[in-house]
Amino acid sequence: MFFEPSTRTKLSFETSMKRLGGDCIGFENSITSSVSKGESIADTAKMFEAYCDGLVIRHDLEGVSKFISDIVNVPVINAGDGAGQHPTQTLLDLYTIKKEFGKIDSLKIALIGDLKYGRTVHSLAYALGLYDVEMYFVSPDELKMPKEILHDLEKNNITYFEEDNLKNIVDKVDVLYITRIQKERFGDIEEYLKVKGAYIVDKDLIEGKDLIVMHPLPRIDEINQDVDDTKYNKYFEQAFNAVPVRMAILKTLIK
Ligand code: NCD
Repeated sequence: MFFEPSTRTKLSFETSMKRLGGDCIGFENSITSSVSKGESIADTAKMFEAYCDGLVIRHDLEGVSKFISDIVNVPVINAGDGAGQHPTQTLLDLYTIKKEFGKIDSLKIALIGDLKYGRTVHSLAYALGLYDVEMYFVSPDELKMPKEILHDLEKNNITYFEEDNLKNIVDKVDVLYITRIQKERFGDIEEYLKVKGAYIVDKDLIEGKDLIVMHPLPRIDEINQDVDDTKYNKYFEQAFNAVPVRMAILKTLIK
């Protein structure tokens, strides 16, 4: 049930299900479902429960997947809930990091860009907090990592640093995880225009450094195309890793 746009998440879930020998039904936006006629998400989810063995939900409201999981009896996978969480993206991010370095412990990882509205970095910060890592949160003042998340990390004695200048951290980290400014989540377009293009990773910035560049995609202008053909580029591999990781998730959850 995809109520918000998606390319990689939706197609990789579909591919994964088909490669496991299963099949998928669904819709790509609320316009082609009866939600557009005023049906509640709860009723729509109940119908899907009758037609399939698991639900993958993307919605612009935080907490929708959790809400649906309380009212249906099949597994529910959160494929992104507004500015909340994106846990399956995090599993493929961790998989990509582990494949690259052979470990996650002891790495220094920078999460960059829209840390306020970016659901991928919310889930990733929590997950990295389960390891012995150092995190650098790089954002403009207006788009800092939410206080509740920082508070949870502090409770668990996780080391993190907040920074607004990307240049100050490129020599310190193993991973640059850059994200798109989430234009669609801004109430006021003027606020978006103030932070648009705040961070750009290009070849000049990272040449000679010992790090990798990751991005959940889609990118707008955060990574210059001159990085694409370099050894630093791990963002396409990251997207390819979505299939084996989501196959594993589906196989684990759907009996
Ligand atoms: C992300 C998302 O939807 O949160 N995309 C994805 O699933 N790979 C990132 C984004 O939209 O910026």
